[in-house]
Amino acid sequence: MKIAVAGTGYVGLVTGVCLAEHKHFVTCVDIDDKKVALMKAGISPIYEPGLEELLAKNIERLNFSTEYKEAYKDADVIFIGVGTPEKQDGSANLSYVYGVVEQIAGSIEKDCVVVVKSTVPIGTNDKIEEMIKSRLVHDVNVYVASNPEFLAQGTAVRDTLHASRIVIGVEEPYAGEVLKEVYKDFDAPIVVTNRKSAEMIKYASNDFLALKISFINEIANLCEIIGADIEDVAHGMGYDNRIGNRFLNAGIGYGGSCFPKDTKALHWLANFHDNELKTIKAAIDVNENQKLKLIKKSRKYFDSFKGLNVAVLGLTFKPGTDDLREAPTLVNIPIMLEDGANIKAWDPVGVDNFKKIYHDEITYCNTIEDTIKEADVCFIFTEWDEVKEFDLTKYNRLMRKPIILDGRNCYDLISVKKANLTYDSIGRETVNSLEYSLA
Ligand code: UDX
Repeated sequence: MKIAVAGTGYVGLVTGVCLAEHKHFVTCVDIDDKKVALMKAGISPIYEPGLEELLAKNIERLNFSTEYKEAYKDADVIFIGVGTPEKQDGSANLSYVYGVVEQIAGSIEKDCVVVVKSTVPIGTNDKIEEMIKSRLVHDVNVYVASNPEFLAQGTAVRDTLHASRIVIGVEEPYAGEVLKEVYKDFDAPIVVTNRKSAEMIKYASNDFLALKISFINEIANLCEIIGADIEDVAHGMGYDNRIGNRFLNAGIGYGGSCFPKDTKALHWLANFHDNELKTIKAAIDVNENQKLKLIKKSRKYFDSFKGLNVAVLGLTFKPGTDDLREAPTLVNIPIMLEDGANIKAWDPVGVDNFKKIYHDEITYCNTIEDTIKEADVCFIFTEWDEVKEFDLTKYNRLMRKPIILDGRNCYDLISVKKANLTYDSIGRETVNSLEYSLA
C-alpha cells in the first residue's frame, strides 16, 4: 500500500520504518529539512536501538520529505504521528495535529483513511473528521481511524513489530478493513472498537501503568519505615497473575514522554467533565514527591550540597534512550546546583541533550570511574547496565566518602555490605557500613 506518515519522532518514524519492513511504500513527512536529509542518508535522527538498521534495510521502500502535498495527495493511508505535548494547564496541545489535518484536507486527491496515532484526548478523532471534511479541496471520501501506539522508548521497534495488541478505532467497517490489510503481516492480536474507546484504551493503559508505579513507590516508602524489603514484596506480589510481575519496580518515579503527560491530560479531561479521577490524581502527586526522594534521603548525611563533589550516574528518564523528558535529573540537578554542588555526571547517550540545558555548570565524564573519583556522594538516577555491572569495590576505592544514593535499586544489599559502602536505595534497608551521620 502507499502510505504517508506525518511526523518523524519516536511514534512517526518507528511506525513508518516498521510499515516499510512489512512491504508497504512509505513516505515520512517532517517540517525539519535537516532531519529529512539525515534520514534520506539512512541515519536515524533519534536514538532507538535497532531503528537505524531497519531504516537502512528498507530504504528502497522509504522516502523522506518536507513536501507534504506530494506525500498525501495519492496515499491510501495517512498516519498522523506528531507530538501532543502538555500545555501549562495539563491539557494536551493539539496544534501540531490540527496543523497536519489542515494540510491533509488541502492535499488529498483520492479516497483515503487518515489514521491518528498521536495520543489525543477522547473525542479528538471526531473533531479531526469534521475538520478534514469541511476543508476538503477535492471531492474524495475520507475515513478517520484511531490507532494508538503502545511502544516504549528503547524497545520501540520490537513493540511495534510484535505489538501486544493493535487497537483500531473506527466508525465505518471500511476503515477497519483497510487497517487490517495494513497490519496483516504484523504479529499481534487486533482489537477493533469505536473511535472513542480506542482513544480511551491508550490513556487508560498508560495511566494504569503510571498508577501501578506510584502504588509500588508508596508501598516502598512504607517498607522503609516498617523494615520490609520492597524487592521481596514486589517479587511475592508478582506471582499472582492478576497483578503480574512487570512495572513493579520501585524507584525515583516515572518520567518520559507519555506517563507524566497522559496522566495529566486524562485528569484534566475528567475535571473538564466535572468528574475528577482521584486515583490518577494520587498517581501524579505520589510521582512528584518521589522524584525528590533521594534529595530528602541525602539530608541524613549532610545539610547542604555547598562545596560537595557530587557524582551523578544516569541522566535520561530510563535506560535505552537519550530522551530527557520529565527525567528525575531535571528536578534534582537544579536543586543541587542551586545549593552549591560541584557535579560530575555520566550517561552513555544522554549527555548531548543534557548539555543543551546545563552546559558549563556540570562536568561530563566518559567513564563511571572518572565521575565518582573524589566524590563525596554518588546519586544513581538511571539503571544503565554499565551502572548495574559496575565493580562495587571501586566506589570505596575512588570516592572520598562512599555514600551511594540509588534511585533505581541497582545493587543487592549483600554485595553492598561486602563492599563496605554506605548505601540508601528505595524501599529497602539503609546500609551504613561506614557509619556516616544519619541525623
Ligand atoms: C511508556 C509505555 O510503556 C508505552 O506503552 C507508551 O506507549 C509510552 O509510555 P516509555 O515512556 O518509553 O513507555 O517507558 P516505560 O518503560 O514505560 O517507562 C516509563 C517510566 O516509568 C520510566 O521513567 C521508568 O523508569 C519508570 N518505571 C517503569 C518505573 O519506575 N518502574 C517500573 O516498574 C517501570
